[in-house]
Amino acid sequence: MSGRGLFVTFEGIDGSGKSTQARRLADRLRAEGREVVLTREPGGSPGAEEIRRLVLEGDPDRWSAETELLLFTAARRDHLERTIRPALAAGKVVVCDRFADSTRMYQGLSRGDLRETVDRLHALMIGIEPDVTFLIDMDPGIGLARALSRRTVEERFEGFGQDLQARMRAGFLALAQEFPDRIVVIDGNRPADRVAEDVAARLAPALTA
Ligand code: ADP
Ligand code: TYD
Repeated sequence: MSGRGLFVTFEGIDGSGKSTQARRLADRLRAEGREVVLTREPGGSPGAEEIRRLVLEGDPDRWSAETELLLFTAARRDHLERTIRPALAAGKVVVCDRFADSTRMYQGLSRGDLRETVDRLHALMIGIEPDVTFLIDMDPGIGLARALSRRTVEERFEGFGQDLQARMRAGFLALAQEFPDRIVVIDGNRPADRVAEDVAARLAPALTA
């Protein structure tokens, strides 16, 4: 356990249903009487939300791969200091939409092979892993269609198309094998209610531990 609380993250390709499931889990846990902080990355603290705008809006070539990695890590450090650590120290459940696994995938794989740099920076500046990570696995075509249907100014990776989404999906599944104690793969190709039931059932042991 991280501190006295429980740190739960959702990961997966764009449009896989992470935000929907993070919200549903937070609602369910609150209904059970638990104190929950629902948050997201990049963002989750005022400073990190400012950095979010820098990395997700505007020209996709605005930053080099390395600069982008530093910005995502800076946002995470602020989020950790101001939101995540205080909540865990107070014994709350933190439910976070994306965390370091997204950096391992998007910055580690999408623009060349930066994975080793990602891991070194994570060890130096972040240093914690979630207690439980739900990887919402999803057909890349369906995920992209869902993501594009709610198209916003934040188009950082969605605009790169289905090929990148397919590579990200494979990368996330490989990550689940790399961290089998923490990452639970959930089939996202089902109605949201069914996915939510599955998530709740898989989290139950960690809540009673
Ligand atoms: P993500 O956070 O992974 O990008 P969202 O939770 O925002 O995904 O979902 C993307 C879109 O797909 C939203 O319009 C949402 O309402 C819809 N959606 C989410 N989960 C499901 C599901 N299980 N079945 C069908 N549509 C879904
Ligand atoms: P998010 O708002 O979760 O998008 P979506 O709902 O479409 O999944 O995340 C925005 C984008 O930021 C997404 O394309 C993935 C990217 N991202 C990174 O590249 N690195 C990171 O470390 C994080 C947290 C997100």
